[in-house]
Amino acid sequence: LTAWHALVKNGGLTASQTILVQGTGGVSIFGLQLAAAAGARVIVTSSSDEKLERAKQLGAKDLINYVRTPEWHKEALKVTEQQGVDQILEVAAGRSLGQSIETIRPGGKIAVIGILDGFTSEIPIFPMLQRQVTIRGMVTGSRKMFEEMNEELEKSQIRPVIDTVYSFPDALEAYDHLYRGAFGKIVIRVRP
Ligand SMILES: NC(=O)c1ccc[n+]([C@@H]2O[C@H](COP(=O)([O-])OP(=O)(O)OC[C@H]3O[C@@H](n4cnc5c(N)ncnc54)[C@H](OP(=O)(O)O)[C@@H]3O)[C@@H](O)[C@H]2O)c1
Repeated sequence: LTAWHALVKNGGLTASQTILVQGTGGVSIFGLQLAAAAGARVIVTSSSDEKLERAKQLGAKDLINYVRTPEWHKEALKVTEQQGVDQILEVAAGRSLGQSIETIRPGGKIAVIGILDGFTSEIPIFPMLQRQVTIRGMVTGSRKMFEEMNEELEKSQIRPVIDTVYSFPDALEAYDHLYRGAFGKIVIRVRP
């Protein structure tokens, strides 16, 4: 729902947009699926080439390994011929937010969702002004948005990517897995 809120409700997702999602966790993979289903171009960053390959199978066009290419924003600009991207799902924050500002195209939007890289960021003001970037904090979404999203998911046949389903007694293991990094969602089944 957070990805839907950011990309569709806040960002007005269209096929002509370029979207960048960071990493291959639950929010980003769902953002990739939504954006690819809308026909948008999607750039995915990840610490793992194997996960990038899986993201490609879900419709990602451009793949950037942010460990091998810590200056990932430069690579994102390169693959978009210096045009930049329309929207970024900022799940990392910390140092990443400044890089995102460098990656956005004029009038683009950064949805600040997570803090995987840190709670505070240093922001380069000049590119932010020059490109009139909108940076907006996002917290999930409303029930109405959830219902709208579900209608759309049925139409577009999107099925969320679930990495692993854990039973309730294995919940601690599920959190460990989340901490190590899952591809898509981790589910804890409450009912036996
Ligand atoms: N605002 C909201 O309403 C809301 C809703 C849901 C989640 N969140 C927050 O959003 C963040 C992501 O949630 P999630 O459920 O998608 O998490 P997750 O499934 O745990 O995602 C973790 C993945 O993010 C990637 N990652 C980690 N550090 C990164 C970095 N410095 N730069 C780029 N990618 C990085 C890694 O992907 P690779 O393994 O591919 O490198 C990692 O596997 C968390 O901070 C969470 O608390 C906020």
